[in-house]
Amino acid sequence: MKKYNFDQVIDRTHTSSFKWDNVTYPASGMLPMPVADMDFPVADEILATLNRITDHAVLGYAIVPESLKVAMQAKIRQDYGWDTSLDWQVWIPGIVPGIAAACAAFTTPEDGILTAVPVYHPFHLVAGWVDRPLITFPMVQEGNRWTYDFEAFEIALKKGPKVFLFCNPHNPGGTVFNAHEIERIRTLCAQYDCLIVSDEIHADLQISSQTKHLCIASDINFFATSKAYNTAGLGGAVAIIPDKNIRDAFTKKTFGFFPMLTRHSIEVMETSLTMSSDWMESLLPYLRTNHDLLLASVNSLPGLTMLPLEATYLAWIGYDAKLHGDFQKRLFDAGLHVLRGEQFKGGDFIRLNFACPRVQLEKAISIIQQVVHAHA
Ligand SMILES: Cc1ncc(COP(=O)(O)O)c(C=O)c1O
Repeated sequence: MKKYNFDQVIDRTHTSSFKWDNVTYPASGMLPMPVADMDFPVADEILATLNRITDHAVLGYAIVPESLKVAMQAKIRQDYGWDTSLDWQVWIPGIVPGIAAACAAFTTPEDGILTAVPVYHPFHLVAGWVDRPLITFPMVQEGNRWTYDFEAFEIALKKGPKVFLFCNPHNPGGTVFNAHEIERIRTLCAQYDCLIVSDEIHADLQISSQTKHLCIASDINFFATSKAYNTAGLGGAVAIIPDKNIRDAFTKKTFGFFPMLTRHSIEVMETSLTMSSDWMESLLPYLRTNHDLLLASVNSLPGLTMLPLEATYLAWIGYDAKLHGDFQKRLFDAGLHVLRGEQFKGGDFIRLNFACPRVQLEKAISIIQQVVHAHA
């Protein structure tokens, strides 16, 4: 097995990087840990695919070949035991536009869009994009993890939303919903006639080796390889939609709005699904070690709390504002960029992306310690 070295620091500045080339950063530099991509090079096989396309040097319109469809179908069967038909697949350039299309297709301006908060911001922003009312309910801490307040969920469903946006694994809570929770979600949404739109983009990024990601197998299920294989800049995703009427209504909303997938994204997705497991087998232990280091460091500091993640590389860190003031700004001023809880409708929290070489994470921890101690 090839062992990848994720300790290698790669300069990403001046590469049109959303994360590293942020125009608000001072010239003296910033350690960026906001948007969810990893500071690691892709797997050798993915590089070989990209090089093969470059050598061929023709970049015309592309189609999704049967081989990619079959590879995705096989993954869903292998991971979840769910037998899907190739006809159920709708290939799209990204999950966020897919969520917007689903919301536009299955709600009217009177219907609400329902989601739990805190949540990955497009889940709540989409209501404004498509001019629909937003209905939310809170996540709660139960033991050592974030889960739904199911009573609040039912109260929210009584308001009549027609689409429920389900994020599993949850960003930013890191929750992998268990079989019991998934059954409750399915039952409640069926009872109140609310379509489930499920986003499983973080499914392969399992931080807890005790947890197994389960797919809700609902009305619309989004899958992508881009998060786990670090190809987010290329895009590409699939919606699995078993019902033909729902599939046709969804697809109609994409016409004229969604560009065709690029050859790069198509071939890279197929490579991700069919290549050796070496890269993922190196990546997960590395992310788990980063996670454990961050968890222990954060929880040893006054006024900061982090729950262990079951999945994702996005830490959700609560802070005592009486002790730490505007913590996100204070960290920014000290050279560390993390996202504000408010962006996720989450209050006094920050979200920190720890998918980076260990030396960068150590630097981030040291900035957090300095900022905390400056006030303590
Ligand atoms: C839960 C979730 N869904 C979707 C996306 C983005 O998906 P895409 O790039 O396919 O639009 C992200 C990116 O961070 C995410 O965290």
